[in-house]
Amino acid sequence: MIIRDAKFIISAVKPEQYPEGDLPEVALAGRSNVGKSSLINRLLNRRGLARTSGTPGKTQQLNYYLLNEDFYFVDLPGYGFARVPKDVKAQWGKMIGTYLDKRENLKLVMQLVDIRHAPSKEDVEMYQYLAHYARPHAIIVTKADKVARGQYQKHVKIIRQTLGVLPGTPIILTSAETGLGKQEVWDLIAKYVGV
Ligand code: GTP
Ligand code: MG
Repeated sequence: MIIRDAKFIISAVKPEQYPEGDLPEVALAGRSNVGKSSLINRLLNRRGLARTSGTPGKTQQLNYYLLNEDFYFVDLPGYGFARVPKDVKAQWGKMIGTYLDKRENLKLVMQLVDIRHAPSKEDVEMYQYLAHYARPHAIIVTKADKVARGQYQKHVKIIRQTLGVLPGTPIILTSAETGLGKQEVWDLIAKYVGV
């Protein structure tokens, strides 16, 4: 896929702020710091489009990026960040839940997990949620550059087993650092948004 044009549209916190129209949306979900914004930048070859940070919890709204006037990336707030007050956490959970549950434009959820860690309780909850609501989804394993190639399969197995990944669910290894997996992710996206 050739992305001629990518632009930030809006940070939404409630459904009234979601863009109007019926363009398809691809959402990126995952823990704070897993690499959602970095993956967006890598996929689009735009270094600073999605704000990334070493400080978890940077993305606190649903950030919409319009690509080629054809479809949107939706960068969801990261979950599982310990140093956030309980009420703020509950609000994020509700915000993400409302979006995943109700949004008809949503065609694919990419759930990101860090290759180095076994999925957390929240990762498992998110996965079960996607499976339960039968949202088309894929597991995107991030930061592959952080482990040796010979260790990939061991880590993927832990992720698959801990999440209880359904048979047939794509699992793609990526690195925003090296660009690993970029083509595979684009092929996946193309399949679901039909562009
Ligand atoms: P929130 O917005 O807080 O939810 O985080 P996020 O999931 O958007 O993570 P972000 O893209 O901001 O990345 C967090 C940190 O991980 C940054 O310091 C990135 O540079 C780093 N990072 C992201 N992807 C990779 C990767 O593939 N490899 C390596 N080595 N570092 C990465
Ligand atoms: Mg982010």
